[in-house]
Amino acid sequence: MRIGVLTSGGDAPGMNAAIRAVVRTAIYHNIEVYGIQRGYSGLLEKEIVPLNVYSVADIIQKGGTILRTSRSDFFATEAGKKAGAAVLEEYGIDHLIIIGGDGSLNGALALEQLGCSVLGIPGTIDNDLGCSDYTIGFDTAVTTALDAIGKIRDTTYSHNRINVIQVMGRKCGDIALYSGLSGGAEAMILPEVETDLDAICERLLIGKDRGKLHSIVMLAEGCGDYFDYCEKIQEKTQVITKGTNLGYIQRGGSPSNEDRNLASFMGYHAVEALIRKESGRVIVKQKGEFLAVPLLEALDMPKIFRQDIYDIASILSI
Ligand code: F6P
Repeated sequence: MRIGVLTSGGDAPGMNAAIRAVVRTAIYHNIEVYGIQRGYSGLLEKEIVPLNVYSVADIIQKGGTILRTSRSDFFATEAGKKAGAAVLEEYGIDHLIIIGGDGSLNGALALEQLGCSVLGIPGTIDNDLGCSDYTIGFDTAVTTALDAIGKIRDTTYSHNRINVIQVMGRKCGDIALYSGLSGGAEAMILPEVETDLDAICERLLIGKDRGKLHSIVMLAEGCGDYFDYCEKIQEKTQVITKGTNLGYIQRGGSPSNEDRNLASFMGYHAVEALIRKESGRVIVKQKGEFLAVPLLEALDMPKIFRQDIYDIASILSI
């Protein structure tokens, strides 16, 4: 049996821990493992290298992905996927493990529909998959955002300002939501909640009247750019409003304990599922349990917004 592993789409802290878990579990079962570099692009370009027990030494703590990653336009086409499937056959790769987000797992599904044996592991800082409570990289991204909120709060307090902090997540507001709760943000602008900027500004002014010297507003990138919000909030509140886009620092750094563990379990379960001949699935964590859910079903599950977190954060930040 020969397994291939690749990382695809935006990198996420913990991907290396997942690669390590896949390789070490496979070797434990005497299965050959090949690393496919630069995601689906590397598959098409045949950038395929054997991995051994030493290839994944000293990587559990490293951010990024040792296999590197890409977003391939050609693989998104029918011809691209067929070419990818042909490369797997040429190299005798019986099963392919794909670590990535929504787009990457949809690529996995397409390969499966072409007759390949695939298994997905959710790796993205966005936490935007309905099938898993958490995705690899999310916890580290939130921790990075939290660290930044603390630093920005120091200067925002000193100057009695408002600061709008923009975080990543595509159409999902989870990074803003979770770091907003733990960072004590005074307001949040999320794609899942209809934005009433007047109400947000009124809330900030009520806080100011009560003696609050500064405010932090978390903005999820899916709602637009921070500079537009800064301008509008400053106009409405007459308080100097600055903004910060945390950008790519959210994708880097050493993975947190949560992400290393999540990745280790998911990588292990991915190989075990293939041994049980359960391919065409994605390893997810649901209510603390690891499951191998069929890809089609998993990708169809709607992402449920944690309204409870939003409501509690609103109560606590008055
Ligand atoms: O999906 C991960 C993510 O970091 C999103 O949060 C963000 O919108 C996007 O990738 C950025 O992509 P790129 O690396 O192509 O700029």
